[in-house]
Amino acid sequence: MTCADDDDPFPVDDCLFADTFSQDTVFTLLGQELKIRQVFGSSLGVAAAVWESALHLCRYFEQQSVELRGKRAIELGSGTGVVGILAARLGAVVTLTDLPLTLPQLQDNVSANAPSSSWPSTLPAVLPLSWGEDHMSFPSDWDLVLCADIIYLPETYPLLLETLAHLCKNRAVAYLSSKMREEHETPGFYEDCLPSRFNVELVHRDGSQNINIYRASLRKDQ
Ligand SMILES: C[S@@+](CC[C@H](N)C(=O)[O-])C[C@H]1O[C@@H](n2cnc3c(N)ncnc32)[C@H](O)[C@@H]1O
Repeated sequence: MTCADDDDPFPVDDCLFADTFSQDTVFTLLGQELKIRQVFGSSLGVAAAVWESALHLCRYFEQQSVELRGKRAIELGSGTGVVGILAARLGAVVTLTDLPLTLPQLQDNVSANAPSSSWPSTLPAVLPLSWGEDHMSFPSDWDLVLCADIIYLPETYPLLLETLAHLCKNRAVAYLSSKMREEHETPGFYEDCLPSRFNVELVHRDGSQNINIYRASLRKDQ
């Protein structure tokens, strides 16, 4: 299993690669084998890789027996889509979202993991959603909002907060898994920004990898 090296915050940088190349990796998660293509060296940047926070979130779902079957779930900043595709394989009705240029990789990964016999629900939808710009064209009736390693650009935190508040209006539960990078002000997002509108609970911490998982729901006064 390979994923982005979290000792180096964002090693996948266009300038590191002279050519575009792709790598197919099989991840075995919750008894599901997912074939995930990571396309490096293109303009995808950090969206090209599977990040360790994503794998932690998948394992958390297993450890805590989080019910996914039948749930309406939307993932923000899906990247390769490993979290949302797994949720769909386990029976959730999933919408995967990210910036427009990342969507071909995401769509390819959906297609690569869609053997009809083992796909209990509908195929995940793949849609563009740029935080703070497109969120109002999405409904607010989700059960779950999934976020893996998307808290790393401080200038987007207010936009992300707006987006989460809209998506969680009808009592959705958001799961956010993050590498807690001080240099990206990630702790500040969870300590100040998110609690300004959400009830936030730290539900898992891996100290050796400095990865936290939070569960959040919109406060009643919002
Ligand atoms: C570090 S990657 C994480 C990818 C994937 N969730 C994972 O954990 O493997 C961050 C993701 O956030 C997306 N992203 C960054 N800024 C965004 C924005 N303003 N709106 C929507 N997505 C954004 C990137 O395209 C990328 O896919």
